[in-house]
Amino acid sequence: MIAKTEEDFNGLKEIGKIVAEIRDVLVQKTKPGVTTKELDDIAGEMFEKAGAISAPKGEYDFPGYTCISVNEEVAHGIPGKRVIAEGDIVNIDVSGSKNGYFADTGISFVVGEGAPILSKICKVAKEAFEEGLKKAKPGSKKSGIGKAVIQTARKNGLTAIYNLTGHGIGRSIHEKPDHIYNYFEKWDDELLKEGMVIAFEPFISTQEEEVFQKDDGWTYVTKKSFVAQLEHTLILTKNGPIIITL
Ligand code: CO
Ligand code: CO
Repeated sequence: MIAKTEEDFNGLKEIGKIVAEIRDVLVQKTKPGVTTKELDDIAGEMFEKAGAISAPKGEYDFPGYTCISVNEEVAHGIPGKRVIAEGDIVNIDVSGSKNGYFADTGISFVVGEGAPILSKICKVAKEAFEEGLKKAKPGSKKSGIGKAVIQTARKNGLTAIYNLTGHGIGRSIHEKPDHIYNYFEKWDDELLKEGMVIAFEPFISTQEEEVFQKDDGWTYVTKKSFVAQLEHTLILTKNGPIIITL
């Protein structure tokens, strides 16, 4: 959407704060021994308390309030019996709506002490996010964001996932522009606009550049790589992007 009115900005900020809080509580509760279902149940209670609706559940009938992906899982992991262990890399992705406004946020992190490569990809995902953010200006080419992501990945001896992308958001969970790529797509000449609301989510990978969908119809996995994501919802303005999910 293009945010124009004060109502738009306030509505977006309200749901942004709700999903950010849920994300932070779930990250804090992710300890060895907890199951992903137990974490998701906390999210369910928090959505209800806030008078908000989980986007995956409400829009796509996803079997969970949040997407929780562990190790080989990259995105859209279904909360369930999986038990978190020390050294796991976990991604928690929380998106939802309130009063017709949507926000989406996610973060990958390592539980306790893990392999150094796992902390490295999380750090580079953050760096790629910050570099991309500098290119998120009204009037600039949308492709500049992906270019910053892939350059940051390569500089660190890593790569990005090409078939998972950021997206427009605001009045629904996925809307125009359809794709904010994590690489330089030279055919993408779309310009960013004042007030445009986007979910920007670089996925940094150790090796593979593609994810595969599992038979469950949801979970995206890699075969031999680890992947880290960082996602925030932004409102683009001429004075710089407003991150509504900090
Ligand atoms: Co997300
Ligand atoms: Co998203």
